[in-house]
Amino acid sequence: MAFIKVAQSDEIAENSGRIFEVSPGRFVALFNHGGSFYALDNECPHEGGPLGEGDVQRGCVSCPWHGYRFDLATGACVNSARLKVAKFAVRVEGGDILVDV
Ligand code: FES
Repeated sequence: MAFIKVAQSDEIAENSGRIFEVSPGRFVALFNHGGSFYALDNECPHEGGPLGEGDVQRGCVSCPWHGYRFDLATGACVNSARLKVAKFAVRVEGGDILVDV
């Protein structure tokens, strides 16, 4: 486990996501859904769309490129059983969001 501080909780509006670079060239999409935080690999496994820019609704993020939906808690794709995105554990300490990258 290697939790690193990625953001502060007030940097991500409720029911939205943001993209953070966690190491050179490696990006994580961090989401605030109903006050709970989730982290997925930012790169959509379909064709590489930026998941951190997608709409967050009903426990899923919709990829902004073609609309495939991914479960925030598991990374599983709702539209295709073949697709899954890496999911990372998240810890909130005080106002800091730490992600196990
Ligand atoms: S690139 Fe994400 S759905 Fe196509």
